[in-house]
Amino acid sequence: MKPIQVGILGIGTVGSGVFNVLQRNQEEITRRAGRGIEVTMVSRRNVAEAQALVGDKAHVVADARAIIANPEIDIVVELIGGYTLAKELVLEAIAAGKHVVTANKALLAVHGTEIFAAAHAKGVMVAFEAAVAGGIPIIKSLREGLTANSIQWVAGIINGTTNFILSEMRDKGLDFAVVLKEAQRLGYAEADPTFDIEGVDAAHKLTLMSAIAFGIPVQFDKAYIEGITQLGAQDIKYAEQLGYRIKLLGITKRTAAGVELRVHPSLVPSKRLIANVEGAMNAVVVQGDAVGTTLYYGKGAGSEPTASAVIADLVDITRLHTADPAHRVPYLAFQHHSMSDLPVLPMGDVVTSYYLRLRVADQAGVLATVTGLLASADISIDAVLQREADEIGGEGATQTDVIILTHDCTESRMNAALAQMQALPTVLAPITRIRKEELA
Ligand code: NDP
Ligand code: HSE
Repeated sequence: MKPIQVGILGIGTVGSGVFNVLQRNQEEITRRAGRGIEVTMVSRRNVAEAQALVGDKAHVVADARAIIANPEIDIVVELIGGYTLAKELVLEAIAAGKHVVTANKALLAVHGTEIFAAAHAKGVMVAFEAAVAGGIPIIKSLREGLTANSIQWVAGIINGTTNFILSEMRDKGLDFAVVLKEAQRLGYAEADPTFDIEGVDAAHKLTLMSAIAFGIPVQFDKAYIEGITQLGAQDIKYAEQLGYRIKLLGITKRTAAGVELRVHPSLVPSKRLIANVEGAMNAVVVQGDAVGTTLYYGKGAGSEPTASAVIADLVDITRLHTADPAHRVPYLAFQHHSMSDLPVLPMGDVVTSYYLRLRVADQAGVLATVTGLLASADISIDAVLQREADEIGGEGATQTDVIILTHDCTESRMNAALAQMQALPTVLAPITRIRKEELA
């Protein structure tokens, strides 16, 4: 049978990985897919660079639209990134009847509803395994492997750059900015690294997993997002002393009132496997009612790990493209007409426990006042750690740190208690609040 023809829009880090792995493993991939998969066209504005990558094996064009216009191309792989041009190209490819593979989580988290509707109307596939957790087959697992389950929650380290930064800060005492530069050099960071460090990239990926886990539309605009830029080295150290690690987690949970959708730094017990995921590695924990807890671990970024996921999508499409569209796996796991209207909960309604760090005057009665405020807000304390003042500010210091771990309460109740504590004259700096997840 004639090989299926693929065109890559944007042959950069991921695109070159796709090209190289397809060349290297061509024979085995063909045996799995049932026919050959050939990249016959690639696009990049810097044509010379692209030509150097593909040699005479594919036709190089500067204009990505030339690939979409080619009737010989069956599958368009969008690897340019961003929301604007990528959206136009993906919608044009769908309109031209091409199947689409993309690694672009930003695009799908924000415009997924429109893109999936257009693809559904046209009867083409849009596959996006590489968009979440790079090489880990988490989309396939959630959408197909766990299909028997009522998913209860999904929690993951889904941004390699921030996990790399937190690991290097903790292990080597390195400075935030230095480690970020290294993550950029290694190709982990987004074109705009604020997407990584402010939690936006993780929220894009979480939005997609949440939609698949609970059968709700993609709703990135409702995600609560907090990055790692406000984290202090002392919180990483105190967390360690209390038996926790700080990780940037994406958490989505089904509750009776709706779905939690949140990305923020979290204290995770050091004994949990996910707390020991280091460097740029990703890990996702899924809790299903039938299967229990499952854990997925691997490289969340990089040229060939991400290419592994893109090629898995190419193989799926190659196998299925002659199938009746009604018999294909739905884009978001649930049938198009069977989406749930479960609301995404506002952050104030989310229930979790907390780590609080207060810089206070080293005076009698301060701790009693603070714990009294928590008690009157009906927030129960799990543990308290008070540092020696001279440990914080040297001999004769008049300030100290009090660290409090609380039991569960709603975010709105904690916000009200924090406002009262912050107003105390003996609380000398903004209070640090980090959410705590047991992930039991
Ligand atoms: P790169 O910046 O390495 O590659 C993007 C490529 O697109 C560049 O080679 C660029 O080349 C080309 N390009 C940009 N504009 C155009 C245009 N108008 N027409 C044609 N080509 C164009 O990005 P990545 O490969 O890292 O990322 C691609 C996508 O994959 C993004 O959505 C990213 O979020 C996602 N992703 C990346 C991962 C990673 O580890 N890198 C992991 C998972 C997902 P030129 O400037 O010469 O045009
Ligand atoms: N910038 C992303 C990360 C790339 O660091 O995880 C993979 O999506």
